[in-house]
Amino acid sequence: MMLREWVTSVFLLFIAMFSNTLGAFVGVNIGTAVSDMPSAGDVVTILEAHQITHVRLYDANAHMLQALSNTGIDVIVGVTNEELLRIGESPSAAAAWINKNVAAYLPSTNITAISAGSEVLSTIPNAAPILVPAMNYLHRALVAANLNFQVKVSTPLSTDIIPRPFPPSAATFYSSWNSTIYQLLQFLKNTNSYYMLNAYPYYGYTKGDGLFPIEYALFRPLSSVKQIVDPNTLFHYNSMFDAMVDAVYYSIEAFNFSGIPIVVTESGWPWLGGANEPDATVENAETYNNNLIHRVLNNSGPPSQQRMPINTYIYELFNEDKRPGPVSVKNWGVIFTNGTAVYPLSLGTSNGITGNSSALFCVAKDGSDSDKLQASLNWACGPGQADCKAIQPGQRCYFPDNLKSHASYAFNDYYQKMQGVGGTCDFDGTATTTTVDPSYGSCKYTGSNSSTTGGGYLPPTAFGPVSPLGGSLHLQVSRLQYLISATLFAVVFL
Ligand SMILES: *[C@@H]1O[C@H](CO)[C@@H](O)[C@H](O)[C@H]1NC(C)=O
Ligand SMILES: *[C@@H]1O[C@H](CO)[C@@H](O)[C@H](O)[C@H]1NC(C)=O
Ligand SMILES: *[C@@H]1O[C@H](CO)[C@@H](O)[C@H](O)[C@H]1NC(C)=O
Ligand SMILES: *[C@@H]1O[C@H](CO)[C@@H](O)[C@H](O)[C@H]1NC(C)=O
Ligand SMILES: *[C@@H]1O[C@H](CO)[C@@H](O)[C@H](O)[C@H]1NC(C)=O
Ligand SMILES: *[C@@H]1O[C@H](CO)[C@@H](O)[C@H](O)[C@H]1NC(C)=O
Ligand SMILES: *[C@@H]1O[C@H](CO)[C@@H](O)[C@H](O)[C@H]1NC(C)=O
Repeated sequence: MMLREWVTSVFLLFIAMFSNTLGAFVGVNIGTAVSDMPSAGDVVTILEAHQITHVRLYDANAHMLQALSNTGIDVIVGVTNEELLRIGESPSAAAAWINKNVAAYLPSTNITAISAGSEVLSTIPNAAPILVPAMNYLHRALVAANLNFQVKVSTPLSTDIIPRPFPPSAATFYSSWNSTIYQLLQFLKNTNSYYMLNAYPYYGYTKGDGLFPIEYALFRPLSSVKQIVDPNTLFHYNSMFDAMVDAVYYSIEAFNFSGIPIVVTESGWPWLGGANEPDATVENAETYNNNLIHRVLNNSGPPSQQRMPINTYIYELFNEDKRPGPVSVKNWGVIFTNGTAVYPLSLGTSNGITGNSSALFCVAKDGSDSDKLQASLNWACGPGQADCKAIQPGQRCYFPDNLKSHASYAFNDYYQKMQGVGGTCDFDGTATTTTVDPSYGSCKYTGSNSSTTGGGYLPPTAFGPVSPLGGSLHLQVSRLQYLISATLFAVVFL
């Protein structure tokens, strides 16, 4: 009995830590090379209709900053590359920029960061010597205005400055950038800021000449013969996105810096391309961006930094048809200027997730051993008394017809019913909790806000004490495992 209570309290502690320390968000970039750009007020209406909570602007447009006031939307404002050149040579230009574009709008417009230039090292490499001085001047101006605790300064960099990003553990920045990168990392560390990364699996895939399967770029499951493994760390990479983020973490580590988080300031997929751009399709864009959102909101970091969530800004809100270049360059938008979505995109979940982490679901863990998973599924639908009707052939959760999806449904049904009486989300290590509602289409998971299923959600009291034998034996084993992992987790945190 005492063990049981102790376990329960450790379990609660674990949940509390989970929701306090983590909580990733997905935001959106707003480029303005758009021929029928809506007014600033209409843009904000569109953002609100789609429950977008974080945006990045490429400049400091006064109309946009004004329209974003009192909306609760977090904003990154941009210093353009042209402005950066001036600011890098003049502290007073930096102070004027801060006063005009930041101080004038706070606190009603929630400006949280300044992106100093855009991919400066790859687009205007000659400006490298003034990059960190410019960031320093901007930071000093924020200090003078007493805004440095609210507003961070950073600079979005492309993955192009890492010559060989795979395997991630061996990645380093081009050594010609050593002194700039060193100054940059020192600046980010000293000002408690973060590294801004533009990460494009679309280009990694299309320029990779078939080196990596498209599933890897699109966050689709990889077959057992196509696993992508870092030979040095033996980490499995489920997505190129994770590998890109990890390549930067390792490159930073090569400079002996740690504790600088990475925020992905751009990632996305074009939905239309020219004749020679066959991968820019609506289907791929829809898959990439929805899987990206799902990936980010699961709160975990890349394999080398599992506790660092990867906050990410999707590139981008509207198609920028006025941008020069191939067809694909003009077609990254997720929303038309009339406010309708280009393809179904569950951006709204990011709001529910970041705002409230009350609902917790139990799903099958990625990469679980399939025999263990099958045994756990059998247990959940048998002795565990989960309602598994919905995953039978012809029923609403049968597709996708795979073990992981079926197991997730069954694990969650069990967990929602049994957690009140001590049931855990473990299943021999094959399950994990998430705040992301796994429901899709007409397949509603038990406990989902939108769950209306008959078979589902009985009050915990209907179950009384857990039945002996099968059930309780398994429960005890999984509690013990949970205890062990929760304790390890706690130790790591101390
Ligand atoms: C502004 O954004 C920060 C960072 O997300 C948040 O902590 C703060 O509550 C926001 N402030 C307002 C007034 O919304
Ligand atoms: C740059 O730094 C890397 C390690 O971060 C080091 O191996 C390399 O020798 C350095 N290159 C130069 C030119 O200093
Ligand atoms: C990082 O630290 C290691 C061990 O102290 C040292 O050998 C290495 O030279 C350092 N690297 C850099 C780039 O300072
Ligand atoms: C919005 O614009 C798109 C693209 O021009 C168009 O296909 C769609 O029908 C429009 N939606 C509405 C509701 O007008
Ligand atoms: C979030 O939680 C608060 C307090 O529990 C509640 O009042 C609010 O309605 C919730 N918001 C959403 C969007 O569920
Ligand atoms: C989150 O995503 C990562 C990368 O795909 C995966 O390794 C991890 O198991 C996922 N975690 C959850 C809780 O779904
Ligand atoms: C969740 O439920 C609340 C109140 O029952 C409702 O207002 C809200 O729209 C629901 N959210 C979703 C995503 O269904």
